[in-house]
Amino acid sequence: MNVLITGGAGYIGSHAAQRLLRDGHTVAVVDNLSRGHRAAVAALQDGANGGRLAYAEADIADRAAVEGLITAHGITVVMHFAAFASVGESAQDPLLYYRNNVSGMIALLEACAATGIERFVFSSSCSTYGQPPEHLIPTPEDCPQAPISPYGMTKLHGEHLLGHYAERCRAAGRPFAFAALRYFNVAGADRGGRLGEDHDPETHLIPVVLQAALGRRERVAILGTDYPTPDGTCVRDYIHVEDLVDAHVAVMQALRPSDARAYNLGIGKGYSVREIIDAARAVTARPFEVVEAARRPGDPPRLYADPARIEREIGWRASVTDLHTIIASAYAWFRDHPTGYGA
Ligand SMILES: NC(=O)c1ccc[n+]([C@@H]2O[C@H](COP(=O)([O-])OP(=O)(O)OC[C@H]3O[C@@H](n4cnc5c(N)ncnc54)[C@H](O)[C@@H]3O)[C@@H](O)[C@H]2O)c1
Repeated sequence: MNVLITGGAGYIGSHAAQRLLRDGHTVAVVDNLSRGHRAAVAALQDGANGGRLAYAEADIADRAAVEGLITAHGITVVMHFAAFASVGESAQDPLLYYRNNVSGMIALLEACAATGIERFVFSSSCSTYGQPPEHLIPTPEDCPQAPISPYGMTKLHGEHLLGHYAERCRAAGRPFAFAALRYFNVAGADRGGRLGEDHDPETHLIPVVLQAALGRRERVAILGTDYPTPDGTCVRDYIHVEDLVDAHVAVMQALRPSDARAYNLGIGKGYSVREIIDAARAVTARPFEVVEAARRPGDPPRLYADPARIEREIGWRASVTDLHTIIASAYAWFRDHPTGYGA
């Protein structure tokens, strides 16, 4: 297939692009490099393995650039990863998030409408669930969506935009299908060693812990040790980035005209902050300082997926569920790229 990947110079988008290229698909990447890395695109180019890669440094809101890319490369599928993705930053600057994630996506959908895109796979998030009620943990897709951050709300708007656009297409007899994939916590790196996670500032727990283990930050703070969980720290679902990308490929292939699907992408069990720290100590065999700090407002005690729907409907499930394996793959990247793509 010929696939447009928005945000392909970022963490997850670059892994998706690499996988599609290796499978022999034609890939066009659009990224404005606001949070991504030219070196990630260069790594894709080097490892293209026969697949055809095109790249445009442009904003998704630049309709001429996006439509040009779609038309020039016969694109029929869009995987939409480009977004700002920090919960904390979204609370500091909500308008930035609405402009980039919502207005940007409207422009992208206009470009899709103008060029007749038939399949659309959207990076949504478990943050659209907000704080699920206790009886909905693990959380299924029909849990009410009630985001508690501007970021989560921009992702929910994205799902609604797609739903309404798809309805119009159906009514007009135009083929269009979409899937909103609600990721839980994505972690790990390309086991081939070309690609990894390089966010600045880094807010995700596993990279933060590994940076501490490598002496790149002074300490790790556990934000809250008095949650109603077995060891008092927050519990989250961590999915390996290669598994996540595998699900995108499976969903892309399963979509049929007029489908409007939503799937959780997680492993279906949670690990606590203390378990992550212990696993990182075991994997890295390096000491690092851990301090206990106050809770961060808005952090649900437990959040993990019920991933049964995607397995039932398209037969996909995560292959890596062992925390040590996930952390070891992330560690290999951070150890070999101490300054990320800047190395
Ligand atoms: N990382 C996670 O754990 C996680 C969890 C849930 C959902 N998601 C979603 O997955 C997607 C990818 O996340 P990531 O961790 O790879 O983030 P990332 O920041 O590494 O990658 C995003 C990429 O999009 C690009 N981008 C942003 N706005 C753009 C715009 N207007 N035009 C063109 N390019 C733009 C950035 O430059 C960057 O390369 C995001 O939509 C995010 O909300 C991520």
